[in-house]
Amino acid sequence: MPAASTQTRESSIRKRALPGLSLALALAAAPLPAQAQAQAQAQPRAAGEGAVVTVEADQPGAQVHPDVFGQFMEHLGTGIYGGVWVGEDSPIPNDGGYRTDVLQALKDINVPMVRWPGGCFADEYHWRDGIGPREDRPVKINTNWGGVNEDNSFGTHEFMGFAQRLGARTYVSVNLGSGTPAEASQWVEYMTAPAGTTALARERAANGHEDAWTVDYLGIGNELWGCGGNMRAEYAADLTNRFVTFTKPGTGEMLKIASGPSDSNYEWTETMMKISGKLIDGLALHFYTRPRDATWEDKGPALGFPESEWASTLDHTMEMDEFITRHSAIMDKYDPEQRVMLAVDEWGTWYDPAPGTNPGFLQQQNSLRDAMVAALNINIFTKHAERVKMAAIAQMVNVLQAMLLTDGPRMVKTPTYHVFDMYEPWQGATALPVDVAAPMYEKDDVSIPAVSVSAVRGTDGQVHLALVNVDPNNAHPVTIALDGVNPAGATGRILTARAMDAHNDFENPEVVTPTAFTGARVSRGTVTATLPAKSIVVLQLR
Ligand code: AHR
Repeated sequence: MPAASTQTRESSIRKRALPGLSLALALAAAPLPAQAQAQAQAQPRAAGEGAVVTVEADQPGAQVHPDVFGQFMEHLGTGIYGGVWVGEDSPIPNDGGYRTDVLQALKDINVPMVRWPGGCFADEYHWRDGIGPREDRPVKINTNWGGVNEDNSFGTHEFMGFAQRLGARTYVSVNLGSGTPAEASQWVEYMTAPAGTTALARERAANGHEDAWTVDYLGIGNELWGCGGNMRAEYAADLTNRFVTFTKPGTGEMLKIASGPSDSNYEWTETMMKISGKLIDGLALHFYTRPRDATWEDKGPALGFPESEWASTLDHTMEMDEFITRHSAIMDKYDPEQRVMLAVDEWGTWYDPAPGTNPGFLQQQNSLRDAMVAALNINIFTKHAERVKMAAIAQMVNVLQAMLLTDGPRMVKTPTYHVFDMYEPWQGATALPVDVAAPMYEKDDVSIPAVSVSAVRGTDGQVHLALVNVDPNNAHPVTIALDGVNPAGATGRILTARAMDAHNDFENPEVVTPTAFTGARVSRGTVTATLPAKSIVVLQLR
């Protein structure tokens, strides 16, 4: 990570005097949105001093929308075929064609929303290919992902059936890149027209589903600056307006999410908000974390990496904070009421493909490092809860930073899955402002706060804390002062492992799995604990 980016992050620190913290640290703050100001990031503390945290439990912030824990499933590799959908005739246990092990595991983490069918795939997808008798559906080539046959056996009805089984909200991305507004409009009508009202509603019934489905989010194309059509922002925004105008739900509220920027493409955000800001409900942000981010050809391996790549990965992923802050500031100019959400609908790690796999399938192992990435990002989304109302990790099963890996009938839960499980109380909770003064974790040219914290008041009324120690070599004590709450005790869970690349595989599925954390002490409104090296601790205060 270049020093400049670290500097930018530090310049966004909220300058609030903390007990015992030198005023010399209280540098002048750049003007920030109120909520961002109220949600501080780490200020440096000397090594050995431990981290000092204040949680303003009496200053409730925005709701952490449950859909921030959304998942992305694309027609890509074994993300759907084999990973979710095996068909009714499969020897793999299934419920109407959906793997029962995968369904159960996803239900257990309360997946709130699923995005489908892409990604890049979406802008080549024609919805009529995926309805009607499966044996009559056309076989095509998946030109984006591995050049394999796409038999369209997973289509609209299969997606909706999957979401319904999970009890998840639906996010459907229409084809803007190679499709027409008429095609998109008819797909929306097919999905949402009330039973029996139109020819498309009757066609849906003839295909087995009488009632309208709810489409909670409609993606208006994907990555229009790249695989979605290589467009200029002005052209993409005009097309977005055209598609938005003609996609009208017959049932339910359907929020329209425009194809937004990647990383630090602030010009894209400026143009989209200027031209389309009044017509859309959300702007997508995509950001993938790579250990080596100079070229896409050399990202670094998922396992067996040196400590320098542990450090660079965590450093890079923390750029999410800066990207959200700066895109939000641009959005504030056009949308001061913060009506339009920033939807981080693709995020997570992207490594070199697992050795021996089809490089177009984006298969990679998932280690303790990925768990750290997940936890850091969820802490960042919590900090920005007022603008980030939805997110989708890429991707749910077998692709990139997956929750679950499958191989034939076998399935394993990844460390990232366990982070989503531990953070479940964040879904729908109220974000609480936190101040963190932490020692720095330093490796080569990386220097990042060793401790990241988020706090919420859950829908259960309790305060929950997430404490992440990214330092792979040192435990760090933390002292957490609680304003406005005086709990009697705390229970918790910890996720850690001996090796930085510790992971779960089919032979050893429980190498990285949460265990009880009994090291938190609570006294007079203060919580103290020592966070082991490279650990994630989630506490519930009682
Ligand atoms: O998630 C994999 C791909 O990454 C998606 O299809 C695309 O939107 C992004 O570039």
